[in-house]
Amino acid sequence: MDTAKDKLDTAPRAILLKNYTAPAYFIDSVDLHFELDPENTRVSNRMHVTRNASIENTSSELELDGCELELVSIHLNGKQLNDKQYRLSDDNKLLILQAPDEFELTIETLIHPASNTALEGLYVSSGMFCTQCEAEGFRRITYFQDRPDVMARYTTTLVADKTTYPILLSNGNLIEQGVFDDGRHWAKWQDPFPKPSYLFALVAGNLICKQDNFTTASGRSVDLHLYVEPVNQDKCDHALASLKQAMHWDEVTYGREYDLDIFMIVAVNDFNMGAMENKGLNIFNSACVLASPETATDADFYTIQSIIGHEYFHNWSGNRVTCRDWFQLSLKEGFTVFRDQEFSADLNSRPVKRIADVNVLRTHQFAQDAGPMAHPVRPESYIEISNFYTVTIYNKGAEVVRMLHTLLGKEGFRKGTDLYFQRHDGQAVTTDDFVSAMETANEIDFSQFKRWYSQAGTPVIDVTEQYDDQKNIYTLTLQQHCPATSGQAEKQAFHIPLSIALLDNKGNPNPLQLDNETSPTDTQRVIELKNENQEFIFTNINQQPVLSINRSFSAPVKVKQARTHETLAFLLARDTNAFNRWDAGQELCIAVLLELIVATQQGKSLALTETVSNAFASLLEDNKLDPALLVQMLTLPSESYLADQCEIVDIDAIHTAREFMRKTLATQLKDQLLAHYHRCCNTDDYHFDADSMANRSLKNLCLAYLMETGDTFAQKLCLDQLHQANNMTDSLTALSTLAQHDIPERNVELEKFYTHWQQDPLVVDKWFSIQASSRLPKTLKHVKSLLIHPAFAMTNPNNVRAVIGRFCHGNSVRFHASDGSGYRFLADQVIALDSLNPQISARLVSAMSRWRRFDEKRQTLMQSELERILKTETLSKDVYEIVSK
Ligand code: TRP
Ligand code: ZN
Repeated sequence: MDTAKDKLDTAPRAILLKNYTAPAYFIDSVDLHFELDPENTRVSNRMHVTRNASIENTSSELELDGCELELVSIHLNGKQLNDKQYRLSDDNKLLILQAPDEFELTIETLIHPASNTALEGLYVSSGMFCTQCEAEGFRRITYFQDRPDVMARYTTTLVADKTTYPILLSNGNLIEQGVFDDGRHWAKWQDPFPKPSYLFALVAGNLICKQDNFTTASGRSVDLHLYVEPVNQDKCDHALASLKQAMHWDEVTYGREYDLDIFMIVAVNDFNMGAMENKGLNIFNSACVLASPETATDADFYTIQSIIGHEYFHNWSGNRVTCRDWFQLSLKEGFTVFRDQEFSADLNSRPVKRIADVNVLRTHQFAQDAGPMAHPVRPESYIEISNFYTVTIYNKGAEVVRMLHTLLGKEGFRKGTDLYFQRHDGQAVTTDDFVSAMETANEIDFSQFKRWYSQAGTPVIDVTEQYDDQKNIYTLTLQQHCPATSGQAEKQAFHIPLSIALLDNKGNPNPLQLDNETSPTDTQRVIELKNENQEFIFTNINQQPVLSINRSFSAPVKVKQARTHETLAFLLARDTNAFNRWDAGQELCIAVLLELIVATQQGKSLALTETVSNAFASLLEDNKLDPALLVQMLTLPSESYLADQCEIVDIDAIHTAREFMRKTLATQLKDQLLAHYHRCCNTDDYHFDADSMANRSLKNLCLAYLMETGDTFAQKLCLDQLHQANNMTDSLTALSTLAQHDIPERNVELEKFYTHWQQDPLVVDKWFSIQASSRLPKTLKHVKSLLIHPAFAMTNPNNVRAVIGRFCHGNSVRFHASDGSGYRFLADQVIALDSLNPQISARLVSAMSRWRRFDEKRQTLMQSELERILKTETLSKDVYEIVSK
């Protein structure tokens, strides 16, 4: 039996930032040779190694990482090493003993791509070879110093059967190719830019290539190649168009040009995340690159544009300048997310993009900050780095960069990034280096600001207002504090930029003049909160103003302010900042919903206050309002966000209250919703542009509301739309709305949809998700049957996310069923998946990470499932790290 001590000894060890040391040796060139075979691939790796002269370095051991490799041979300067000259350690390290100061090292290994279901390193997906090396996958290909501060120039030769794998790709430029007379062919690629091993990639398969071309600002011509399976050749246009938009945007916005003569993207069906920025050879989850109007929704088109941008932007923020170690992950991810957010905002509606991003941050990142997985943007320790590709690193990291942008202004920020790229091109650096470039370029001190990188948790700001109608002085008092997070009990004050305006009773913003200034500057300005407690005094304010604060969400904080429903309704109607209008509306809805939740718990009959119905009615009447914004304003806060607003989460009361509010609004506003629905209907061909997208989303929002009335006319509308739609956005919303209602047509239409689309795995995933998201009571039973559906494979992460992920992360009311059936289901799947794909398994299990927030009964149920998982033999580091927290 396991004793507590055994558990401690075998528990995986944490890696600490404070233990960072520079590598003892550098590897400056790598010459790789692959003989590709699904069962046994032979890898020969010739490295040029030199001792790191810049550190005091007494050791003469070269330590290389490896994982699940079969070692064939090692040669040092051409001589084979015997087993006294190297050592294989228990933790998978290969030690070259008594290594000289400079030498050639050649290592041959065997690997087994076809049985690699973890999808890290070299694996096979739908018959093609592909790689995923971030963060630590390269060590599954060959022995190497698999850490980002070791940067090398790579030459890669691929040998494979010519008929099965006609396309052979790797990073950089194709420099030579040829055929053997045994039916195999080969290609040699060379990447002139030094890079860390996590950016290495290769692809081999039977793919077709969609080509395009881009001419850079300086007049260089770049070939753009998109490689897909032949069945997907009609789904490439949008990705290629997005890529050209991204290339142009980075030139205009950051002055950054692409640096190779060819840029390649490959679409792969089995992929752990969205996409990967390998140098010159991006690899994408096919769901994040393939689109046609018939098979992809507006949301898909939008996401594809932004992910294409994200991976492309990494070429500078991540590849040319990379991370010193994985604690610096946000250096590339936070900055690159900020870049892709701005790219999308510039190309589409800026306020709608901001709302979407803030929703993600508030629902997922704030929740992470408040739970056991809370960590700073620059973490101090990790067990498994794959678990740190989090909303904190990515999305909060982007908010931190955004605050720098807000504080420095557009020009100041650009000066900072110019200096950053100039100083660190070709280097592996830290978040401190990034901030330091901003400081130097702008002659500013950001020492206090840097706490955003080191302190976890979401700061809370309490607002007090005072107005002196004799002196016309308005005093704003702000007080900040940040709740304790694990390992960080006390926090120091943050440097917080807050964009504010003071509105008069018509909604017009006052000119803002602080008491030490001689004239007003602007009607909106950024005040900087640096102390725990700080007063801002504004003069010449002629009537009691209404405060509009944290405009456009200038800081990732929670603002606490006592406001009446009327004030919120006023801001929803009148604020001149679109984001804050929406935000006031959300706060109003939350206030009303919290009252409804209490009423539900007390068994009282529910009633919706007129303030909300009237506010929503006026929004529907406002024909100057951008329909895309209107949709955001009419969308109620999600059940999981509401759960975060409650002391103790009462899943059922939250669900009942929110459903009641939707149904009541639908009934009261039926005529207006219907009028909008008809106005937005048109039979034009599908176009991906802001106006048509906004129209479709308003139409579909109206449809979903109207269905809540339960009227048969709405059901007819829904079925007609499903049958007549000429694009996936319209048919999918109709189907997913239908799937929420227990009516006879539901199952018939679901079956028809499957029969029609069964050949298209991406559409089948949507079909899976719709069913897993259904609020109907039989959903879990149904989800279990989907797991044995012929189209479902546990080895395909998109399938797992669509069925299990959707149910556990996106269907609170069914997942948290009071009998614990949802938790038992999740634990079973986590255990089954752990040996196949630990990364995906760990992502799933985090659905239970906030167990402490639930009632006692659910806490006990979740806890016992978590313990059951912990007892699994040979549990992965990935799942262990999450469950043990
Ligand atoms: N660097 C990638 C991005 O931000 C994400 C990534 C990290 C990834 N690890 C991965 C993607 C593993 C796929 C698999 O876009
Ligand atoms: Zn990224």
